[in-house]
Amino acid sequence: MQISVIGIGYVGMVTGACLADLGHSIFFVGRDQKKLNKIKTGKSPIFEPQLDNLLERNKNRIKTTADLSDAVKKTELTFICVGTPSQSDGSVDLQQVKEVTRTIGNSLGSDNKYHIIIVKSTVLPGTTEKLVIPILEKESKKKSFLDFGIASNPEFLKEGSAVYDFFHTDRIVIGVNDQKTREILVQLYQPLSAPIYSTTIRTSEMIKYTSNAFLATKISFANEIGNLCKKMGIDSYDVFEGVGLDTRINTHFFRSGIGFGGSCLPKDIKALIAHGRALGIDPQILNAVIATNDEQPMKMIDLIKQHMDINGRNIGILGLAFKPDTDDIRESRAIPIIKALLKEKANVIAFDPVAMKNFQSLFPGIRYANKAQDVLNASAAVLIVTEWKEFENLDFRGKTVIDGRRNLKAQMTASIYEGVCW
Ligand code: UGA
Repeated sequence: MQISVIGIGYVGMVTGACLADLGHSIFFVGRDQKKLNKIKTGKSPIFEPQLDNLLERNKNRIKTTADLSDAVKKTELTFICVGTPSQSDGSVDLQQVKEVTRTIGNSLGSDNKYHIIIVKSTVLPGTTEKLVIPILEKESKKKSFLDFGIASNPEFLKEGSAVYDFFHTDRIVIGVNDQKTREILVQLYQPLSAPIYSTTIRTSEMIKYTSNAFLATKISFANEIGNLCKKMGIDSYDVFEGVGLDTRINTHFFRSGIGFGGSCLPKDIKALIAHGRALGIDPQILNAVIATNDEQPMKMIDLIKQHMDINGRNIGILGLAFKPDTDDIRESRAIPIIKALLKEKANVIAFDPVAMKNFQSLFPGIRYANKAQDVLNASAAVLIVTEWKEFENLDFRGKTVIDGRRNLKAQMTASIYEGVCW
């Protein structure tokens, strides 16, 4: 199939590159010419394992353009993968969705084939029906489900393993109202041999929010139990291993520590809370999920202060990315932790294998080390904030370590060791 992918962030890049690998022709549509040029040479503008490989080996099937209208005319399917950031009150900013939808609608007006528009951006239930479809119909002067198809198809990819997740997904969710669109999407995803759950557009949008809300809830729950375990001298990892053997609960996403960051879980939970409030429901559990998550990184500060006065001391930070295998620092737990350390007048020296450049624009004033060992050598105490694999090979002997992510080597070798929830 000929497919346009609008948005060259992590969702668009992964979706487009993986669909190209399934044999489809992809038009990546973006505004940043530099990034588009990079894609053309088979290189990804974002850091994501496996992505460069896919772009390189499917170069002949991949085109790039800044002209969305032209891409829509030359293709049969258009994936909307633009960002839906949070506004200050937690609600979703739909500016980019509106903008691209207007252009698509306009382009559909002079397009005689049955084009399908697929909303992959995370949008609240009702957005496709109440916002996207009316704009498309107005701009194109055509009728949805009759002259063009529309679907919701949320993504469940995790940064750092997004390519793997695409090809090994647990399920594919499609929200559709017409048979023709359903058949084409089923055909598109057939090679993945994952169960395809077909439902209404609104339900599909809600499945995305509910999935992220549940995952975030599981993490905050793990942290709350983890905090209790710490006080009782119990290792919460052992507890969750035992609890997770119950298949109703399972062991996945049960890692206690310093909470969830990233561009999705915090943003989506806050959006759902804001939406609930607008509907007259203040979601108590979700409020608590966010409150626990905001408090959790501060446990590291409390623990280190139990061992030393940090005023004027060199404190090392291992890991700045919100999770390993990504350079993404959005909502990284390193941000509140470093802010708190600076407030306490500590001198921060940090290292991350790939996220330092991004972090430097946020915190230009702290020291950055060339390698992890330099952080250990230069610091009175070290805080492990991201569980990069390479940190498991460090020599922590003689060091004071506060561990937010459970580094077994540090646990075994550091002279003073404190885990946040163990
Ligand atoms: C999350 C979801 O896991 C994906 O299914 C979803 O598609 C994606 O959001 C999205 O909406 O786009 P992502 O944010 O990439 O994926 O990363 P996660 O692996 O979910 O990690 C999020 C945060 O939770 C990280 O800071 C991680 O350290 C933390 N986490 C994760 C824990 O603290 N404990 C865990 O057990 C798991």
